[in-house]
Formats: sequence, structure tokens, C-alpha cells
Amino acid sequence: MKTIDIRRSIRSYTDQPVEQEKIEMILKAAMQSPSAANQRPWEFVVVTNKELLKKLSELSPYSKMLSNAPVAIVLLGRTERMVIKEMWTQDMGACTQNLLLEIVEQGLGGVWLGVAPSEERMTFVKEVLQLENVFPFAVVPFGYSESRNHYINRYEIDRVTYLD
Ligand SMILES: Cc1cc2nc3c(=O)[nH]c(=O)nc-3n(C[C@H](O)[C@H](O)[C@H](O)COP(=O)(O)O)c2cc1C
Repeated sequence: MKTIDIRRSIRSYTDQPVEQEKIEMILKAAMQSPSAANQRPWEFVVVTNKELLKKLSELSPYSKMLSNAPVAIVLLGRTERMVIKEMWTQDMGACTQNLLLEIVEQGLGGVWLGVAPSEERMTFVKEVLQLENVFPFAVVPFGYSESRNHYINRYEIDRVTYLD
């Protein structure tokens, strides 16, 4: 609960590179996610190449922080793995949240950049990374940051109905 509580969207990063062991833990957390019929449609591209990060930062007007990130993970759905195809975005949503939470656990900060269902953004990511047979879902830049993850209370009792 502590990690869930303090996770914030962190959009600025220091130049310090992220250790490979931390990246692996983050990928492991992502791959532990639930998925429809256990189809696990996900694949990941770990981008540290500065030129590619700069190109990816043109994904949308809200993605500029990618050009200053030491690393970004691109989350993709692989079409051949989709048994119950229409569920793929739900699978990838769970996966993206797990990944973000482990970023916090590792003492880092990151942000979810939405790609799907925008055809324009999906095509853009496929072109930049030269990919086929995948649906890009999200891009998550992350790194060490001077901004801190911190708690914001979002509990709203009036959103809940109890039926006894
Ligand atoms: C589907 C989705 C798409 C998002 N896309 C962007 C984005 O393109 N750029 C950005 O800076 N933040 C993006 N965010 C982050 C949200 O703005 C952020 O989660 C929200 O403002 C709440 O703040 P918090 O994450 O700090 O709790 C996205 C979040 C989600 C779940």
C-alpha cells in the first residue's frame, strides 16, 4: 500500500544511468501481471539510445520529458499472443501499473505516456522503433529524480456503494 500511495508521475530526471539490475526488477514486476486467459500479450523495448529517446519525445505534446530520460520502456502487445484479442488493452494496463510501482520500489520516478488507442501514436512508435506485428500500448520514461514520489489522498467515500 505504501508504494501505491506514494507513486506519482515524475517527469524530470537526473543524468545518472539506471542500473541494469533495477531495469530487470522492473521488467520482472511487469511480467507478473494478470492477463485474460493468461495470454500475456506483452513485450518490452528498453531504450537508452539518446537519439531514439529524442525521436520518441515527439510522440505527443506531452512526451517531451523523453528527451531528458536516461531510459524508457516501450510496452507492446504482440498480435500472435492475443488469444482473447479484445482484452489486450486491459492486460497491458495492469502490466503498465505493475511496472510503474516497481519503478517507485527501486527508488526511481517515471511516468505513463499513453499510446494506444491512438492510431497516430501507435504508428509513430512502430515507425521510430521499426516494428511490425505489435500494438504499442504505452511508453514509460524513468530515472533518478530530484522530484520525490509522495502521498496524495484520493480516497472518496462517495464513490463507493456497499450492498449488504
Ligand atoms: C493512460 C494514461 C496516459 C497518460 N499519458 C500521459 C502523457 O502523455 N504525458 C504525461 O505527462 N502524463 C501522462 N499520464 C500521467 C497522468 O497525467 C497522471 O497519472 C495523472 O495526472 C495523475 O497524477 P499521478 O500519476 O502523479 O498520480 C498518463 C496516465 C495514464 C494512465
